[in-house]
Amino acid sequence: MIVRRGSALCLREFRVSSSFKSSGRVSYELRGDIAVMTVSNAPVNALSLAIRQDLTACIKQFEEDDAAKAAVIVGEGKVFIAGADIREFKRPATEPHLPDVIDQIESCSKPVIAAIHGVALGGGLEVALGCHFRVGVPGAKVGLPEVHLGIIPGAGGTQRLPRLAGFEKALEMIPSGAPIGVEAAKTAGILDEVSEEADAVAAGLAFARSVIDNGTALRRSSEIAVPAVDPKVFADAKAAVTRRARGQRSPVACVEAIEIASQTSFADGMAKEREMFMELKTSAQHRALAHAFFSDRALSKLPEIEGIAARQLKSIGVIGGGTMGAGIATGALMNGLSVTLIERDDDALGRAKATIAKNTGGAVKKGKLSAEQEQRIFEEALVLSTDYASLSDVDLVVEAVFEDIEVKKQVFEKLDEVCKDGAVLATNTSYLDVNAIAAVTKRPQDVIGLHFFSPAHIMKLLEVVVADKTAPDVIATGFQLGKIMRKVAVRAGVCDGFIGNRILATYRAAADAIVVDASSPFEVDEVMLEFGFPMGPYAVSDLAGLDIGWATRKRKAPTRDPHERYFTFADRMCEQGWFGQKTGKGYYVYEEGARKGVPNPAVLEIVTEERKEKQINAKKLEKTQILARYMAAMVNEAAKVVEEGIALRPLDVDMTLIYGYGFPRWRGGPMQYADEVGLETILNNIKENAKEDAYFWQPAKLLEQLVATGRTFADLNAAQGNNSATKAHESA
Ligand code: 3HC
Ligand code: NAI
Repeated sequence: MIVRRGSALCLREFRVSSSFKSSGRVSYELRGDIAVMTVSNAPVNALSLAIRQDLTACIKQFEEDDAAKAAVIVGEGKVFIAGADIREFKRPATEPHLPDVIDQIESCSKPVIAAIHGVALGGGLEVALGCHFRVGVPGAKVGLPEVHLGIIPGAGGTQRLPRLAGFEKALEMIPSGAPIGVEAAKTAGILDEVSEEADAVAAGLAFARSVIDNGTALRRSSEIAVPAVDPKVFADAKAAVTRRARGQRSPVACVEAIEIASQTSFADGMAKEREMFMELKTSAQHRALAHAFFSDRALSKLPEIEGIAARQLKSIGVIGGGTMGAGIATGALMNGLSVTLIERDDDALGRAKATIAKNTGGAVKKGKLSAEQEQRIFEEALVLSTDYASLSDVDLVVEAVFEDIEVKKQVFEKLDEVCKDGAVLATNTSYLDVNAIAAVTKRPQDVIGLHFFSPAHIMKLLEVVVADKTAPDVIATGFQLGKIMRKVAVRAGVCDGFIGNRILATYRAAADAIVVDASSPFEVDEVMLEFGFPMGPYAVSDLAGLDIGWATRKRKAPTRDPHERYFTFADRMCEQGWFGQKTGKGYYVYEEGARKGVPNPAVLEIVTEERKEKQINAKKLEKTQILARYMAAMVNEAAKVVEEGIALRPLDVDMTLIYGYGFPRWRGGPMQYADEVGLETILNNIKENAKEDAYFWQPAKLLEQLVATGRTFADLNAAQGNNSATKAHESA
C-alpha cells in the first residue's frame, strides 16, 4: 500500500493472491523524501509469505520511486520483526524466499535503514543485517534464537553477523541464541546507532536524514571482509557446545555454519547455510523444539479459566520451612511477594530462615538478586511466626509440612479457621489426595494443589492440581502465582502422583525390572544419558535420597497388589544405610563432597542375589532394547494420564517431563517422541513385554484407540485447539 503524505491518497495493493492465508502486510508511505515501510503482521510481525511478497514489492517500488532518497523499515506494534513464521516450516518453502528478499534489500542502490524497537529476532535480525544501516531505540534487543528451534539462521545470519561483529561475537550469540541489548549490539558493530528517540519511526527518519544529507556511502555487510581468525576457536567452540548440547544438533550446526564464513566466499557461505537450514528444518529435532515452543504458550490456555481474573496476590503464607517450604518462600520473596512462614517452633524457624538466607545469598552471588533486594527481603518482606493467626491477611497459603495426610488435614482445619474469606489454600503434597484435604475445610472451592519441585526456588515446573470443587478463579490464581514466580505452570488432575510423579513411578518400576531381568543401574543410566537426560534415573535417586522411596514403599506395602512384581535390591541398599549422595554411598560411591560418583560394585552383588532368589536368568538386552522398554513404559502411563483427564492434553505431559524431569527438550517430551517413533511400534513393544508381565504392561486404551484409528498425540493436541504447531500441521 502506498500512501503519499500531503498529496491525494494514492493506494496500490501489493497483496498477491495466494492459497496461503495470512493477515500480514507491509505498507509503503513516503514521508518527504524518505520511504517508510511498515511490517504489520500481529502479534510479532513474523515474516510469513504475504510479508515476504509485500516486502519484495515495496523494495521494488522504492527503487523505482524517484521521490524517495532513502527507506526505513520498521515494525508495527510491540516488536520490529520476531523472525520467520515458524508455523510455515511444515510446508514446502514458497517463493520469495527470505534470503532472496534480503539480497534484494541489500542490492538497493539507495540507502535502506532498519529501525528496531522491541525485538529483532531470527529472520527479523537477518532483514536488519541486510539493510545498509541499523538503528535501535532504547530497550530493544537483537538476537538469533533459531538454535532453540533446532535450526540455524537460514537467511544470512551466520554469514553476515561475523562480518559485522566478528567471529567471537557470532560464536557467542548464535549457538546460544541469547539476545543482546542495543548498547551491546552497538559496541559489537551490529547497530550503527542507539537512538535517543523512543519511537522507531522517528529514530529511523532521523538516521535516514543524516545519511541523505551527509551522502554516507552504502555499507553492504556481504561485502565486508571477514576478520582473520584462528581456526582453533571453532574447534574449541564445537567441543564446548557439543558437551552442553547433550545430543541436540543445532548448536553444533551453528558453529559449523559460522566456521564456513571464515573459509569461503559470501555466496558460497550463503548456499551452504541454506542447505544446512533446509536439512535441519525437516528434522525430528526441529519438530520437537517447535512443538515445545508452541506448547509453552498453550499451557495456560485453558477453557475453564478463559476470561477469568485471578484473585489478588500480594502476600502469601508458607506452612513448614523444610526443604520445600524454604525453597517456595525464597522463590516468592525473590519475585516481590511478601511471605509469612509458619513453623512448629523457634528452632525450626531459625533453620528455615538460614536456608532462605543461603538461597538468597546464592542468588546475589549469581547476580540474580541485588544486595538491596536481599536486605529488603529480610527487613520487610519476610515474617517468621509459630502462630497461625499471623496468616489472617495473606492472599494465598502454600502448605509444605510432612507428607502425612493426618498432619495435612490438621493444618487445613486451622487454615480454615484463620484465613480471610477468599484466600487460596494450597497444598504442596506430592502424592496425597487433594480432595480429601479440601474436604476438611468449609471452603473446598478455595483449595488447590500447587506442586513445586525441589529446589523450589530454581526448578521451573509447577503442577497446578485442580480438585473436584476448585473454583475457576482459584485455578487462575494458581497460574498467576506461577507467572509471578517465573514458573512453568501445568494443569493437572488429582491422582496418586498427579502427572509427573505418577509417570515417574511407572518408568522407574520398568527400570528396576530391566535391572533385575537383564542389565544394571549403571547401564540404564548410561542409556538415558545418551538419550539426552542430564542424569540417569539411578543417579537421580541418589541425589533425591534413597530413603524417600523406601519410606513410600513401606507405606504402600499393605495395599500392594499381589500381582505386582516387587524388587528388593533398593530396600537392601537402604537397610545398609546407603541413602545416596547424603551418605556418600548409593548406586554410586561419592568422594567427600563430590556430586558425581563412581558405580558402587556392591549393588551388582545385591542384584545378583535377588536374581538367584527369584530364579531369574538374566538375559542381555541391547541398549536400544533398554531404551525402547523404558520409553514404552513412560508413554503407556502418560497415555493413561491423558485418557483419565489427569493431563488435559498430551502437550501438558510433554512440558511436565521436560521442565520437571529432565526429558530432553529437543526430543519434545514423551508424547512427541512417541509420535516420532510411531505409536504402533510403542504399542507392539508394550504387548511384547506383556507376555512376561501382563500386570504391569496393560496397554492404555487411548494408545490402542489411536493406533486403531491411525491418529497421533499431535492430533489430540490439535483437537484441543491451542497448539499452533499442530494446527499448522493440520492445515498443511
Ligand atoms: N512465528 C510464528 N508465530 C510466532 C512467532 C514466530 N516466529 N513468534 C511468536 N509467535 C506467536 C506465538 O506462538 C504466540 O501465538 P499465540 O498467541 O497463538 O500463542 C504469539 O506469537 C505471541 O508470542 P508470545 O506469547 O511468545 O509473545 P511474547 O510477547 O511473550 O514474546 C517474542 C514475543 C519475544 C517475539 C517471542 O514470541 C519469541 O521469542 N518468538 C520466537 C522468536 C524466534 O524464535 N525467531 C526465530 C524464528 S526462525 C527464523 O527466523 C528462521 C530464519 O533464520 C530464516
Ligand atoms: P521437610 O521434612 O523438609 O519439611 C517439612 C517441615 O514442615 C518441617 O520443617 C517441619 O518442622 C514442618 N512442619 C511439620 N508439621 C508442621 C505444622 N503442623 N506446622 C508448621 N510446620 C510444620 O519436608 P519437605 O521435603 O519440605 O516436604 C514438604 C512437602 O512437600 C511434603 O508434602 C512433600 O511431599 C512435598 N514435596 C517434597 C519434595 C521434595 O523433593 N522434598 C518435592 C515436592 C513436594
